[in-house]
Amino acid sequence: MRLDKLISSGGKYSRSDVKKLIKQGLVVVNGKVAKTSDEKVDPDSAEVLINGEVFLYKPFIYIMLNKPQGVVSATDDKVHKTVLDLVPPELNRPGLFPAGRLDADTTGFVLITDDGDFAHRILSPKNHVEKTYEAELKEPIKKEDIEKLEQGITLKDGFTCLPAKIIPISEKFVRIIICEGKYHQIKRMFGATNNKVLSLKRVQIGGLPLDIDLKPGFCREITQEELREITTKNST
Ligand code: URA
Repeated sequence: MRLDKLISSGGKYSRSDVKKLIKQGLVVVNGKVAKTSDEKVDPDSAEVLINGEVFLYKPFIYIMLNKPQGVVSATDDKVHKTVLDLVPPELNRPGLFPAGRLDADTTGFVLITDDGDFAHRILSPKNHVEKTYEAELKEPIKKEDIEKLEQGITLKDGFTCLPAKIIPISEKFVRIIICEGKYHQIKRMFGATNNKVLSLKRVQIGGLPLDIDLKPGFCREITQEELREITTKNST
């Protein structure tokens, strides 16, 4: 991999910053001062120092965003702010995308990454990575509706959902846990019980809860340990 690509993947320096650092003799690769930014380096084994500090190469990045209302889960949008617009420069790198979409009016946990395989793993219903939401409902939830949702409710378009888990918190406020991510899925699931979702927040992906200290609109990097919690633990 080119040296400038490797260093700029860290998010702190752009390729032109790397060029300047190299010109100033501040980049050392495997004990030798780097001369050009197109120098080829092995990302897995190269020891890179920038201004005397060890540079740690991360092949992929995983970011937790607490999405506020009104922001769209897209990489690009001419009108609305996107989830990528909320990623701070130090976490930004090419190829980022949201692993799963929330509606513009849904808030909470969006995982942003550049790791396509990981995204596929957590999104495919086959892998049973649970997504936990909190839903505020217009009408009190009925026992028979909980049963229908937990058995696998059939939507108005005929699609039958996988069984969901419902944890009632109060009569109009529930936790709902699903492994699928169809368009407007939870709103349509409650619609099929003749109820309406007034507000929706994703609070957990797999075994990893949304960080309660992360204010709406803010991001932080997900640690390797937390990453494992997503795929190895369940929501409940
Ligand atoms: N289900 C919905 O209806 N909307 C979302 O944003 C996520 C799940």
